[in-house]
Amino acid sequence: MACPLVPLAEIPTIALLYKLRHLLPASSPRVQPSKAFNDTISLIRSDITKLQVDCIVNAANKSLLGGGGVDGAIHRAAGPELLQECEALDGCDTGDAKITSAHDLPCKKIIHAVGPIYGLELRRGRKRPESLLRSCYRRSLELAVENNMKSIAFSAISTGVYGYPSEAAARAVLDETRKFMEQPDNIGKFERIIFCNFEHKDEVAYEEITPLFFPPEDQVPSASSDLGPQSESDGESSKSAEILAAKLPDPPTVDPALDGQPETKKQKVNTGHTDQSSKSYFEDFSIKSDDDWEEVDGSEDGRTEKLDDEPVQVDSPSSENDVQSVQSVQSSGIIEMDGSHMSDSLLAKDW
Ligand code: APR
Repeated sequence: MACPLVPLAEIPTIALLYKLRHLLPASSPRVQPSKAFNDTISLIRSDITKLQVDCIVNAANKSLLGGGGVDGAIHRAAGPELLQECEALDGCDTGDAKITSAHDLPCKKIIHAVGPIYGLELRRGRKRPESLLRSCYRRSLELAVENNMKSIAFSAISTGVYGYPSEAAARAVLDETRKFMEQPDNIGKFERIIFCNFEHKDEVAYEEITPLFFPPEDQVPSASSDLGPQSESDGESSKSAEILAAKLPDPPTVDPALDGQPETKKQKVNTGHTDQSSKSYFEDFSIKSDDDWEEVDGSEDGRTEKLDDEPVQVDSPSSENDVQSVQSVQSSGIIEMDGSHMSDSLLAKDW
């Protein structure tokens, strides 16, 4: 059964996640809280091709001609006309992004950003991976503003095949996003900026890092804060919020493999998140997902990219570091994709 589409109203803001205590404050946030920012930034673990938002951001490669991972999922779901449109774009540099139509996807546009290959760029300069990753997100946000996109959902660029460590990526991304939002010209430009994670490791990284850069409105619970005690009416909205939260889309249970892609072998790894502090907000809804790490064999899409005349076999590990990075995970959630989602009447509710 195909996974259902996810309307924007079902994608929780971090203000809601704080209110539901599914996102916990950091002990030492780095910035001032902002209600406006907390009503804009959103976290979800989902298949990005299902999100009914203005635009989604693909983790592409320099050719823009598709590949595995989220790139493959997006091309597969968008249909062959996306590839035809991309062929006319003449590729894209690492750290840059280009925009296309969404074709058969439920969103309006696709922004294709080319993230850094972590190990390769690190060998070229200690700060290169981070500056290129920041550039991907900044360029994507700029493109979205230029195209009047009010809601944007990012996949976790470079944290899959390209091997960027999830926590370091989340830190750079959230800091860069906050800096973008603080620029006077950009205030109010977005209704939603969504970080759509697919793998458990990225979901946990964002849960831990988001409170550093987007702290709850008032870390000490007070009447008006995200964590405030509930008044009668608040109790009502909080109850509805609980229902919304309980109906969050189930984490994807299969990694969208391209048709005809070689089978990949699985090894079970212990995700090991048991203590309360790193408890995923999905675990509140007894969604258990043992992420199965898969070794992506080198022939996943046989792509070899020339990076500045340095041929790089993108999907086959060339060093011990890359072995860790050339993995993709298949979230083999134990939950059933029963498509259980809220009724439309609940969606109409104004949070
Ligand atoms: N929805 C959302 N996120 C997804 C999906 C999906 N359907 N499928 C995978 N992801 C996540 C991965 O779990 C990872 O966190 O997207 C993130 C980026 O991983 P990759 O897709 O491997 O992209 P990246 O690490 O940037 O490597 C790019 O891989 O697929 C090829 O053509 C692509 O050569 C390029 C390289």
